[in-house]
Amino acid sequence: FPHRVVIQPVIDSTNQYILNHLAELKKGDLCLSEHQTAGRGRRGRQWLSPFAGQLILSIYWTLNARKPLDGLSLVIGMAIADAIKSAGGKEINLKWPNDLLLNGRKLAGILIEIANRQQDQLNLVIGIGINLSLPKLKAQIDQPWAELCEILPQLDRNELLIRVVKHLYLYLAAFEREGINAVFREKWAETDYYFNKEVNIITEKQTITGINQGIDENGYILIKTKNGELLKFNGGEVSLRKP
Ligand code: ATP
Ligand code: BTN
Repeated sequence: FPHRVVIQPVIDSTNQYILNHLAELKKGDLCLSEHQTAGRGRRGRQWLSPFAGQLILSIYWTLNARKPLDGLSLVIGMAIADAIKSAGGKEINLKWPNDLLLNGRKLAGILIEIANRQQDQLNLVIGIGINLSLPKLKAQIDQPWAELCEILPQLDRNELLIRVVKHLYLYLAAFEREGINAVFREKWAETDYYFNKEVNIITEKQTITGINQGIDENGYILIKTKNGELLKFNGGEVSLRKP
């Protein structure tokens, strides 16, 4: 059964579009745009989305509200990373919990927003922004960033879209059946830029330094501190930074 694809040349935010049109949309429907005037990241941060330089999409999805949600952004990251790898891009890594990196610089972001809960059904929107070529943005992003044209200058954006959506539907279905299963955990360890490296975990109250030991079956990050303690953190609450 076909999914609806809404294409908006200009919009405030494709995530906001889905949130505003839930009643007309079905699970798996997509909203695409060329340019967002108020693209957003986590915690009210801004996602810069100039004209035609990105793949910007949001997907309406539903999940069982009784199951843990924490691993979702990781599964989406793995789907996008594998989609790009399937098009020939090898140097893609993930940064827990929601970033895609190219040679250590931010290539894409994922923003999951919960719309509402109807009994056991959680309605949510999955937003993805992937940089393809951003010649005019050079100085405006306040952290190291990357564009896919660095490694795949010939890649067609429609082809990337198809690969990303195919991988997403497959990986989301597996996540719904099995959560963060052993295959996902292994894939994560292979793709995580900071796996087995020292990282800082920034919480509201403090910064914790330790070695990143990968993720558990809920998608929590496992950090081994200097005194040998193994701590777990949830991606909704903390940020990871290199020390
Ligand atoms: P966290 O690890 O907590 O998620 P983050 O720095 O990745 O932190 P996000 O909210 O995930 O923050 O992403 C928003 C940030 O992404 C912005 O503050 C900006 O630094 C960066 N950013 C904004 N637009 C782009 C873009 N087009 N490409 C790459 N990075 C961008
Ligand atoms: C992040 O790194 O914090 C997440 C950035 C997510 C950006 C995408 S672009 C499509 C969708 N619409 C938005 O307003 N944000 C997401």
